[in-house]
Amino acid sequence: MLVLGIETSCDETAAAVVRDGREILSNVVSSQIELHRPFGGVVPEIASRQHLRFIDQVVRQALDAAGVAIDQIEAVCATRGPGLATSLLIGVSTAKAIAAARKVPFLGVNHLEGHLLSPFLGHSGTQAPMYFPFLSLIVSGGHTMLVHVRAVGDYEVLGQTMDDAAGEAFDKVAKLLGLGYPGGPAIDQLAREGNPTAIDFPRSMLHSGDFHFSFSGLKTAVMYYLKKQSAIGNRQSEPRDLCASFQEAVVDVLVEKTIAAARAKTVQLITASGGVTCNTRLREKLTAACQRSGFRLLLAEAKLCTDNAAMIAAVADAHLQRGHHSELTLDVEPNLALAPA
Ligand code: KG4
Ligand code: ZN
Repeated sequence: MLVLGIETSCDETAAAVVRDGREILSNVVSSQIELHRPFGGVVPEIASRQHLRFIDQVVRQALDAAGVAIDQIEAVCATRGPGLATSLLIGVSTAKAIAAARKVPFLGVNHLEGHLLSPFLGHSGTQAPMYFPFLSLIVSGGHTMLVHVRAVGDYEVLGQTMDDAAGEAFDKVAKLLGLGYPGGPAIDQLAREGNPTAIDFPRSMLHSGDFHFSFSGLKTAVMYYLKKQSAIGNRQSEPRDLCASFQEAVVDVLVEKTIAAARAKTVQLITASGGVTCNTRLREKLTAACQRSGFRLLLAEAKLCTDNAAMIAAVADAHLQRGHHSELTLDVEPNLALAPA
């Protein structure tokens, strides 16, 4: 089955064509980062207007790159939440319009489910087999969660962040350091030459005995550290060491809690996805920890870690195969949860 996927939950306008839920024929992502950069974060009004301006040509590019005509598309899907309401609306309306015009099924997709299944996509044509149960770590700019996946659509959220998401912590600390937006890649880059043990930042909730996270205290610790350094006149404190030490604190908590959750659920496979999974140190430390503890690890490919429409089309395919589709009256859901509480 050929599925056209559309993703506009935040600041990327994306469309993709995926065959049988696994083979990516095209994956077009038009990023708005440059437009939002001067504001240090995503401005919803600007995001929505940009989606509206570019969605038609992004869809066209996805079809052209896939070498597929619109009348060959057998289903159309779009992210319906979670995300920015006015951004989601553009993708969902576009998908509904195409589905209605072409008389093919429409499906509204949960963005988090897209991240959750993305590790099984791509891998240069040698798609990894999906087997259950597995433990999924989703770490992005908006979410940090550990999910016990029993089957497609059967998700138990074991824990999530109580405050800032991991990516948000990267972005906020980068802002404190004047590194611009988004901050994750910049911190990752600087940290490569820094000493991760230079500053002993707190590993929040490491021993909380549950699978929840908290990153706002770490961000505050970085802020106080910087204030103290400037109060004692030490303006030259090494940003590379600070980035490496901050990153290590985030990564340590993510890795330890992921391994603990996988043990608690006695799964054999761990997956990781979402923008922060691009992080070099997280990939390294999670790989090493899984090897030590005897878990198989599947990391989403770097280009599928950040927001894209291929992962949305893959989810839609899995649900369409199970006989599901959405009505054209379906609304967007900015606070859509991954699973019922
Ligand atoms: O999944 P994503 O594209 O969007 C959301 O659904 O939120 O994730 C974006 C987040 C941003 O916070 C960005 O700073 C972070 O992923 N990120 C990284 C890296 N690359 C992107 N964080 C740490 N290290 C990276 N290399
Ligand atoms: Zn995302």
